[in-house]
Amino acid sequence: MTTLNDSRSRPILADRVQSAKPSATKEMTRLANQLKREGRSIITLSQGEPDFPTPEHVREAGRAAIDRNESRYTDVAGTHALREAVVRKFARDNGLTFTPDQIQVGCGAKQVLYNALQATLNPGDEVVIPTPAWVSYPEMVQLAGGTPVIVRCDAATGFKITPQQLERAITPRTKWLMLNSPSNPSGAVYTYDELAALGEVLLRHPQVWIMADDIYEKIRYDETPFATPAAVTPALALRTLTINGVSKAYAMTGWRVGFGAGPLDLIKAMNLIQSQSTSHTSSISQAASIAALDGPMDFLPQFVKAFRHRRDFVVHALNDIDGVSCDLPPGAFYAFPSCQALLGRRDPSGAVMASDSDLAAYLLREGGVAIVPGSAFELPGYFRISYAASDEDLSEAMSRIAAACAQLR
Ligand SMILES: Cc1ncc(COP(=O)(O)O)c(C=O)c1O
Repeated sequence: MTTLNDSRSRPILADRVQSAKPSATKEMTRLANQLKREGRSIITLSQGEPDFPTPEHVREAGRAAIDRNESRYTDVAGTHALREAVVRKFARDNGLTFTPDQIQVGCGAKQVLYNALQATLNPGDEVVIPTPAWVSYPEMVQLAGGTPVIVRCDAATGFKITPQQLERAITPRTKWLMLNSPSNPSGAVYTYDELAALGEVLLRHPQVWIMADDIYEKIRYDETPFATPAAVTPALALRTLTINGVSKAYAMTGWRVGFGAGPLDLIKAMNLIQSQSTSHTSSISQAASIAALDGPMDFLPQFVKAFRHRRDFVVHALNDIDGVSCDLPPGAFYAFPSCQALLGRRDPSGAVMASDSDLAAYLLREGGVAIVPGSAFELPGYFRISYAASDEDLSEAMSRIAAACAQLR
């Protein structure tokens, strides 16, 4: 009998799909959901999204757009009104000057990153990715035919690439450096001086462009002003794509609105790519995003305060576990502890924790907590906990993780 997952259907798949990995964070969440359906009590700390409601004035703007019947196709690059709001955002928050033509709005920051790589990479082109990095960067580079050049940056440098590491990674084939600050998964934030030092290296290599993923800009815990590469080194602005969006700061992950700003020719090429895929993101979401960008930000300190409280609790609880150590991350909503001292230990059944992936599988199986192994972010020996979850879930999850780790010998 032929079944729908018959292996004979495989030859139709393209090579690029066969070599691509599914998103490890989504895979972990899928496994967790499967166990939940089987009746297990599972706490999911593998997904990176705020658990707060979207602010009321933004929801109201979405409802009003529906009632105005704003239900037609928009410009591929996004509505003019939203792109003007994005121009205002970059001027106000980042001191960057753009025209609406230099803005692309996509289905989340993710599509903007994807469009940029599709629009620029030829086979053999290299993209420098300091890791730990968001799981999608290397995969997106490969799907676009490029070669990810992974530069591992561990706790010793605060999970940040140094100018020396950057200099060593650049070759004549390097097309992009992908920088993400605050970082998913480490929470690292690049200071003005650190970006300036990286900028000096990049000034010597005119073939390298900078993709600055600032999606976690608003989720930071200290007073240091936010710095973004195009503002720190204006001479690099002509080869920088600055990416941001509403998902994280406004608790709008499902609305799917992200944006990028950069040189006109790059944005035009990205619009061409988008015009042949999604065309644009939802007209209703775009209308709501104008209200988000132009509206009051008084809800944000409460978001950040809640995240800070959870961060402090989680990091403290992690450091209380024998074999786990974690620095206090200055941004985003993830803790990225080292589990190197746990590797080599055995669980009660005698199975060895040979890797962070074994530990993640054990914590899900025995502890009922879904986390993501560091190797998914190209930095083995660590794991990521998203603390964008309720206080109750975090408290229960940390007890379970501690109990499960205590059983490793
Ligand atoms: C570093 C990073 N960039 C981009 C995104 C994508 O955000 P969006 O929801 O706007 O597509 C995420 C989402 O998890 C992220 O962690």
